[in-house]
Amino acid sequence: MPRIVAGSSNRALALAVADLLGTDPASCDLETFPDGELRPVVREIRGGDVYVVQPTDPPVNDHLIELLLLLDACRRAGARRVTAVVPYFGYARQDRRLLDGQPVGARVCADALQAAGADRLVVVDPHAAALEAMFAIPVETLSAVPAMAAALARRVLDGTVVVAPDLGAVKLAERYAATLRADTAVVRKSRVSGTDVRAREITGDVRGRPSIIVDDMISTGATIEAAVTLLRSRGGLDDVTVAATHGVLVGGALERIGALGVRSVLTTDTVGAASRARAERSGLGVEVCSVAPVLAETIALLHADGARAVASARDVEELGRLGELRDASTP
Ligand code: R5P
Repeated sequence: MPRIVAGSSNRALALAVADLLGTDPASCDLETFPDGELRPVVREIRGGDVYVVQPTDPPVNDHLIELLLLLDACRRAGARRVTAVVPYFGYARQDRRLLDGQPVGARVCADALQAAGADRLVVVDPHAAALEAMFAIPVETLSAVPAMAAALARRVLDGTVVVAPDLGAVKLAERYAATLRADTAVVRKSRVSGTDVRAREITGDVRGRPSIIVDDMISTGATIEAAVTLLRSRGGLDDVTVAATHGVLVGGALERIGALGVRSVLTTDTVGAASRARAERSGLGVEVCSVAPVLAETIALLHADGARAVASARDVEELGRLGELRDASTP
C-alpha cells in the first residue's frame, strides 16, 4: 500500500487522496521555531513507497521549504522510494530568463527537490509542460482539464468561445475547446509587473458570444480582469465563465474578479482551503472540482509501476467520452 505523507499546505487534499486509496496517512508533525524555522517529523514510513503531498500554496516559500524538509526526512527515515506530489508547483512560471540578471527559478526548485531526495514528481497542469525538462527524475504531469471540462460541458451555451488570456494558455484553450466542441480566441497580453498586465489585442470571433476564459492559474486576477475587459470592449457577451486549475487568489484577486460580474469561477483544490475560504467570505462564488481522484488513481498506478501508459490512456478515453456528451447535448 502506498504511504501518504500530508504536508501542512493542503492537508484536506492529502487526506482526500489517502481516503480514496483506502489508507491512513503516515503520522507527521510540524514544529515551527520562534524565528520561523520549520522541523517536520514523519513516522511509520520505513521501507515504504512514500508520497509526500505538499502543493506550494501561499506562502509559497514556507511550503516549498517544508516540502524539501519532508522529502529529506522521508529519505533519512528509510523510505524505499519518495515521490513529491506537488499539484500546484510554484516557481513554474520562472522557466526562463526574461531579463539579464534574473534566475531560472523553476530550475533552482527542481535541483532542490532532487537534492532533498525526491525520486519522482507528480504535478497538475504546470505553467508549462517544459517543467519536466528541468528534472532528471521522472515527472508525471497530470491535468485537471478532463474533470473541469466535464463540469463545464453540462452548461456550455451554443456559440461559446474558449479564450486563452495569453499566448501561454493557447494549448490549454485548444484542449478545452476540443472537448467542448467550441471555437477559440487568443488574447495578446504583456505583463508590466507581478500585479499589472496589459491585454492588447484579441484574435478570434468573440462578438455576441458567451465565453469561457481558461488559464493554468489565477494569482492576482490581473490576467483575467484584462481579458474580460478586452472581450467586452470587442463585443463579447457579458456571460463570461472563468476556469483555472490553480486558484491561488492573492493580492486583491477576489475583489478584482468579484467586480467583473462573471457568471462563475471554476477551479480545483490543488491550492488549499485558505484561498477558498477567503473567496467565500468575499462573496465570490468559486466552484471547486477536486483533483483528489486523479491523484489517487495516479498514485495507485505509480505504486504498481504502470503509470504513464495507463494515465495517458485514461485522458484520451475521458476526452472522447466528453466529446460524445457534448454532441448528445447539442440540439
Ligand atoms: C501566466 O502566464 C499564467 O499563465 C497566468 O496567466 C498568470 O500567472 C496569472 O496571474 P495573475 O492572476 O496575477 O494575472
